[in-house]
Amino acid sequence: MEIRSGGTRHVVSAEQFPPALLEALFASAGEMARRLRAGGPPLLPGRVMATLFYEPSTRTRLSFESAMLRLGGQVVSTENARDFSSAIKGETLEDSVRIVGGYADCIVLRHPEEGAAARAAAVSTVPVINAGDGRGEHPTQALLDLYTIRSELGRLEGLRVVMAGDLANGRTVHSLIRLLSQYRGLRVTLAGPEELRLPAPAVQALRQSGAEVREAQSLLEAVVDADVVYQTRIQAERLSQPLAAAGQDAARFRVTREVMAALPPGAVVMHPLPRVGEIDPEVDSDPRAAYFRQARNGVPVRMALLASVLGE
Ligand code: CP
Repeated sequence: MEIRSGGTRHVVSAEQFPPALLEALFASAGEMARRLRAGGPPLLPGRVMATLFYEPSTRTRLSFESAMLRLGGQVVSTENARDFSSAIKGETLEDSVRIVGGYADCIVLRHPEEGAAARAAAVSTVPVINAGDGRGEHPTQALLDLYTIRSELGRLEGLRVVMAGDLANGRTVHSLIRLLSQYRGLRVTLAGPEELRLPAPAVQALRQSGAEVREAQSLLEAVVDADVVYQTRIQAERLSQPLAAAGQDAARFRVTREVMAALPPGAVVMHPLPRVGEIDPEVDSDPRAAYFRQARNGVPVRMALLASVLGE
């Protein structure tokens, strides 16, 4: 399995992962899941991963750090780089990345600006892994999302996927769509508030890939023949002003018991999390609610990715 971009193993976009590479990564993630249960010799002894996060995170940072520790490597971390790194003194992202690259063998970067991971990769001497760049991409979340779909449903072709919530600002949606569009027979139903629609270039790219794209006025309408409901929260931190209408609309796009009653028995509900009201907690006990299983998959998938990026 070889992840390369410009001669170095940076992970900047989901576009870097064609189906053959995804298959190899998922096979490795399956091995890592077995390793988590049964143990095994360290795979990355003596290697150091830096997590450089300029935005808050629970899942991405901690699952990357857990993955590295479980591979026998070590971690150096700044969880609030915006306030507690030299960024507060005016150091540029590029300079910080040049410096941290001298202390670690790879850098996992989260940043509020779209394109920040590509900027970091352009100057870094060690691999940079994009852990979310503004409303741009979140490729490693998409990897674990696709791994979850494959684990839960056993296939990636002929999927009927409902993308719900904030499709304008949801970077996980943008990356997952890139991965899904490589598979035949895809149908995507877009279900979200009017002001938060999927950007036109992404819709166009989906259609050009051969996918069927529909729009729905409510989640209840969208889910009736779905295989996957991918719910997302409204990214309030990326809105210049509160969207009153979107808030009102949000009720039509909530996962509720009524929505679950309309969802086919073999389908799954996913969410990158955190959720802030767009999935009723009453739904959690439904076996089709896959979002906590999805979050757990972050560790084996990121173990597989780190082993590939840092392995010989
Ligand atoms: N899914 C995700 O990116 O969660 P965090 O913001 O907690 O990392």
